[in-house]
Amino acid sequence: MTAQVLDGKALASQLREEVAAASKRLAERGITPGLAVVLVGDDPASQIYVRHKERAAKECGVTALDYRRDADISQEELLALILELNADENVHGILVQLPLPDGLDASPILDAIDPAKDVDGFHPDNIGRLAQGRPRFVAATPKGCMTLLAKANVELAGKNAVVVGRSNIVGKPMAMLLTNANASVTLCHSHTKDLAAEIGRADVVVAAVGKVNAVRAEWLKPGAVVIDVGMNRDENGKLCGDVQYEESLAVASAITPVPGGVGPMTIASLMQNVVLAAS
Ligand code: GUN
Repeated sequence: MTAQVLDGKALASQLREEVAAASKRLAERGITPGLAVVLVGDDPASQIYVRHKERAAKECGVTALDYRRDADISQEELLALILELNADENVHGILVQLPLPDGLDASPILDAIDPAKDVDGFHPDNIGRLAQGRPRFVAATPKGCMTLLAKANVELAGKNAVVVGRSNIVGKPMAMLLTNANASVTLCHSHTKDLAAEIGRADVVVAAVGKVNAVRAEWLKPGAVVIDVGMNRDENGKLCGDVQYEESLAVASAITPVPGGVGPMTIASLMQNVVLAAS
């Protein structure tokens, strides 16, 4: 078997065009979608992510409003900025790039974002709504994974799905989305006793660990669909995911590459959320 490669880059480009068309319709009603991007400190990876998000915003007719703050900003000052953005009617979506520098506590900051502007879907209201199967804003990475699965016509009802990694940003919301889509979901993490056995039963595997070779090709059930959220550097400094990619091509029925799989879908999904917030 040679797996179908799920081209997130091409699909994301199509989604950005759709979002741009939706923005244009909003502009005709006098609304320009505005996304406040809050970046604290100078983490190089965060700077790259934010640059990509701002570039996509431009392409989608979304005004990105840049709020860069030094790493020594106080918790109170950052909170005050969020409250100011909540009250700003030109701001439809608020994104606080994570992780925040040491010394800042992300939870109270994310909790302070108006849930109606929470385009990252991290607010407890939005997580709660997703858990109850009535989502409003869904976190961009898991949302992008679901769109990829839908476009590839992957049937989820009644299937065994394994999510590896239980982060609030990806693993947990991903498990909820798959549950809502009627899959039987197992959420694995660092305490899972036998990851190989869990993955061996999975029709769909979502890897969101952040570690090279966290999922080995020989563990996969033949024909499994593999979504690789990982973004790592291998020993040669080459970008790679969490899954043994080349070896998995011969076992899986479909797989996302890294780069060019989930990454671009995350950004396109965020833009969908911004336009939803502005609508
Ligand atoms: N850091 C890593 N992924 C994300 C994301 O999806 N949103 C935000 N705000 N920060 C992140």
